[in-house]
Amino acid sequence: MKKVIVTGGAGFIGSHLCDALIENGYKVTVFDNLEPQVHPGQLIPDYLNKKVNFIKGDVRDYQKFRDAIVGHDFVFHFAAAVGVGQSQYQISKYVDVNINGTANLLDILVNSKHKVKKIIVAASMSSYGEGMAKCEKCGIFKPLLRNLSEGIIVRERHYWEIKCPVCGKMAISIPTDEKTLLDANSIYAVTKKEQEEMCILIGKTYGIPVVSLRFFNVYGPRQSLSNPYTGVTAIFISRIKNNNPPVIFEDGLQTRDFIWVGDVIRANILALESEKANYEIFNVGSGKPVSILKIAKMLCVLMGKSIQPVITYKFRKGDVRHCFADVRKIKKLLNFKTTVPLKDGLARLINWCQTVDAKDDFEKVLKELKEKKLV
Ligand code: UD1
Repeated sequence: MKKVIVTGGAGFIGSHLCDALIENGYKVTVFDNLEPQVHPGQLIPDYLNKKVNFIKGDVRDYQKFRDAIVGHDFVFHFAAAVGVGQSQYQISKYVDVNINGTANLLDILVNSKHKVKKIIVAASMSSYGEGMAKCEKCGIFKPLLRNLSEGIIVRERHYWEIKCPVCGKMAISIPTDEKTLLDANSIYAVTKKEQEEMCILIGKTYGIPVVSLRFFNVYGPRQSLSNPYTGVTAIFISRIKNNNPPVIFEDGLQTRDFIWVGDVIRANILALESEKANYEIFNVGSGKPVSILKIAKMLCVLMGKSIQPVITYKFRKGDVRHCFADVRKIKKLLNFKTTVPLKDGLARLINWCQTVDAKDDFEKVLKELKEKKLV
């Protein structure tokens, strides 16, 4: 039986991965520090598969991490601090967990006797910065990051959108492929970029196959509904569940690429089992852009509440306007296609939400962001 270790395996995506690995006949160890922001009271979550061998440990603890890793055949490196906004003021912590934690992993593999035959690293679309764009007149370009001020209220769409650097006309967003220049817009995005680069570099140097999966906006059951630093779907659901309106930054017409967690897990299993994936980077997204306002409205309707989202027309620093995946590479090399349409996935997510508590701490985060001049 092949042995797999999943760092961060008690988290949202990692725990689903454990289920799939066990179902596919792997023996699974989880190495996770049970970060209190994600796991209140540092308790092992109920949803974690009872067949995993659980080790409470931090990727910053070299010794413990080494002892955990060496007997395994494959490593999924999912442990990370994940709040984009929060990373802009907890810089040391984000660099420590994400970059030094990854450095430990690689140092261990280079300097210890081990059996590891492949590493799959969870990278992020956030490292792209702005997604690719096209001006109808002047052609395709990679937009620079927007240099907008916090605290100013602007209603005109033109202000928020990406403009052509040549003629100044509003551009349209087009799919972003893996060769696109990375242009990280937050400390979180910088650390995710470094994780990927470090893993690929050391993997190639020492002949350990690495696969980097750039996740787009993943949603599904087990997303923490009480951690206000998580992704937009969980934050909105928590707001609506508590009869509060979702709060939208900018004008709501910024877009993201939402992908169902079960589809992400299939991509991970393919990355593990296919040799064609070795040393490759893949976008893991649906390939379809959806506006944040649309997500908010869909959730209000699906949850059966007559709540209207509140649009702030304010900028949250570190946010990009548009980015959605070019999915041709993963389709071609790994024959991967998403299977769950957004509407069905959101309905399933909401069904699950009815079974768990949701503490709405959004106001606290907003206050923090304002104090740090990030909004
Ligand atoms: C998210 C994840 C990141 C992951 C990336 C790719 C978080 C905090 N971010 O980043 O870890 O790597 O996807 O999968 O989990 N928004 C609102 N109101 C809110 C919250 C967000 O309008 O209450 C808007 C933001 O301004 C932004 C969009 O929604 O325009 C998406 O925000 P967010 O969910 O934080 O996602 P990403 O930054 O895309």
